[in-house]
Amino acid sequence: MAAGFFQAEMSMLSSTLARSYSIPFRKTLMSFDFRIAMERNPFPRIPRSRVAAFSSSPPHSRNFPIPGLEDVFVGYLFGRKKATEVAHLVWEQIIQKGDVVVDATCGNGNDTLAMLKMVTDDSNGYGGHVYAMDIQKDAIESTSSLLDQTLGSKEKERVKLFNICHSKMEEIVPEKSSVRMVAFNLGYLPGGNKSIITVSDTTLSALKASERVLVPGGLISLVVYIGHPGGREELEVVEAFGSGLPVSDWVCCKLQMLNRPLAPVLVFMFKREK
Ligand SMILES: C[S@@+](CC[C@H](N)C(=O)[O-])C[C@H]1O[C@@H](n2cnc3c(N)ncnc32)[C@H](O)[C@@H]1O
Repeated sequence: MAAGFFQAEMSMLSSTLARSYSIPFRKTLMSFDFRIAMERNPFPRIPRSRVAAFSSSPPHSRNFPIPGLEDVFVGYLFGRKKATEVAHLVWEQIIQKGDVVVDATCGNGNDTLAMLKMVTDDSNGYGGHVYAMDIQKDAIESTSSLLDQTLGSKEKERVKLFNICHSKMEEIVPEKSSVRMVAFNLGYLPGGNKSIITVSDTTLSALKASERVLVPGGLISLVVYIGHPGGREELEVVEAFGSGLPVSDWVCCKLQMLNRPLAPVLVFMFKREK
């Protein structure tokens, strides 16, 4: 029964994907070739001008299939990859060398470090900036120490760390900077004080600030943890915010495990290019 249901669901998903990518309906998801689909039209609603930027490599050398896509995304679908790995893969499709990005919850610095690698080109020292913030001083110290262990002093200069609430991000991101991405990893600091968590009110204010600072072609990315008190309410606030963004300007989606009710939920809000 369960297996039958699974197959039926997969087959429906397969048909939907097939329709989006003009691939014959009889192909099942198992035989669905992501590479073919991505080569034909990687993101059907996004202008093709943007497609050139869907890789971490320089625009002139970008092509498909996207390296790592099958490994990470399909790995996530089958329970072998984490939500954060999927988030990082999505970031790589959006962020370009030289970009300005915001880590709204830097915690232990893992996401900050991943972002820095995406905005920096080691070969010629060219790079953008990461504005990283956290409400906890301990988190700022933890991020700083991770960067010290991993980076040279020149690279570290590209990260600006702030011990503030993310609802105030506009006070630290220079007014004229074109912010390509704002990323949130909500919840509490792993290994830290579990009573200091992100809360709906300030998360909502920070989302509104993100909407204001983001350039067209940019991304608001969220990994939402729902296993702690208040987590589910916060997800509802995030979902309501994303649902309210006009479809003419935004593409918003979420990825959520159905039978793991406490698994983190991924939410992506992509601001269309004009
Ligand atoms: C899940 S952790 C982030 C993990 C981090 N991105 C990493 O890679 O290690 C969530 C972080 O959000 C921080 N936080 C909570 N409320 C905040 C707020 N209003 N503004 C900024 N950071 C906040 C917490 O202190 C915690 O460090």
